[in-house]
Amino acid sequence: MAEIKTVAVLGCGLMGSGIAEICAKAGYQTWVREITDELAQKGKTSIEKSLSRAVEKGKLPAEERAAALGRIRTATDLEALRDADIVIEAVTEDLDLKNEMFRTLDRACPEHTIFASNTSSLTIADMAAATKRPDRVVGLHFFNPVPVMKLVEVVRTIATSDETFRHAFAFARSLGKEPISAKDTSGFVVNRLLVPYMLDAIRCLEQGLASTEDIDKGMVLGTNYPMGPFTLCDFVGIDTLLRIAEIMFDEYREARFAPPPLLRRMVAMGYYGRKTKKGFYDYTGESVTPVNLGI
Ligand code: 3HC
Repeated sequence: MAEIKTVAVLGCGLMGSGIAEICAKAGYQTWVREITDELAQKGKTSIEKSLSRAVEKGKLPAEERAAALGRIRTATDLEALRDADIVIEAVTEDLDLKNEMFRTLDRACPEHTIFASNTSSLTIADMAAATKRPDRVVGLHFFNPVPVMKLVEVVRTIATSDETFRHAFAFARSLGKEPISAKDTSGFVVNRLLVPYMLDAIRCLEQGLASTEDIDKGMVLGTNYPMGPFTLCDFVGIDTLLRIAEIMFDEYREARFAPPPLLRRMVAMGYYGRKTKKGFYDYTGESVTPVNLGI
């Protein structure tokens, strides 16, 4: 299998920009693809800021920041990514959208190109089946914030070849990450455990077990988790969590994956968490305060 030199990242939001950043930092020529030039530029600016923060903190020499940025090219046209040795999609959790992109790239990219998805909850086989290269399709599931979190779940479908899997695993290591191998079931390992935990915290709140702050405090001080479940929900995104829960519930039909009513109400009201400055907490003031959710 060809050596990976060029990476293409589809989508330059929170996850896509983080993935592009670590790829460029690791020395790969990195394409960033967004649907408009404005979004591509916005993504590149957030990568620049993140690299600058790393320089300010003394974690990255200034010349390496410049070199990493020099390796990043932006595009809106999918065909421009045809020289990629690996494509990593990090767009919204919409299977049709992902498959449309993979179908186009399947025609444009050479045979050796690996297609990877950063999906949180969709199954990789559903994407592999849309291509003519199912043996070269894997999951590469990164965690937020990508530059900080050490884990990557490397997911093989029933059709992924051993060679592709080994290549993807080695690629994750080359980014300075610690990969684990996971089967292609919705949520893989981490979200299979983490999502029911976050949903259960919401059910605890709905049932009046304790306040938002106290449930968070309980898990931080009682188990040394870096964030309580509601801080984490806001961090992941309430809308994203709802989408993940819907997909996982659809796969398993188990009550623990069912989205609690409060989650749906919050999404309806646009309380998406940190990105909208309001979720379980309000981020608009000097200090972060819990939102009155009428419970
Ligand atoms: N980019 C780069 N570096 C960042 C960063 C970012 N976005 N956010 C934080 N950091 C760095 C800081 O620079 C700091 O580095 P230093 O220790 O070398 O100075 C370090 O991370 C710690 O940051 P802070 O001191 O600002 O804040 P915290 O100590 O509170 O840490 C946190 C922040 C790393 C986000 C920590 O709270 C944490 O680990 N939280 C849990 C995150 C988590 O669970 N992520 C997984 C979410 S689930 C997921 O992604 C799966 C998806 O499919 C849903």
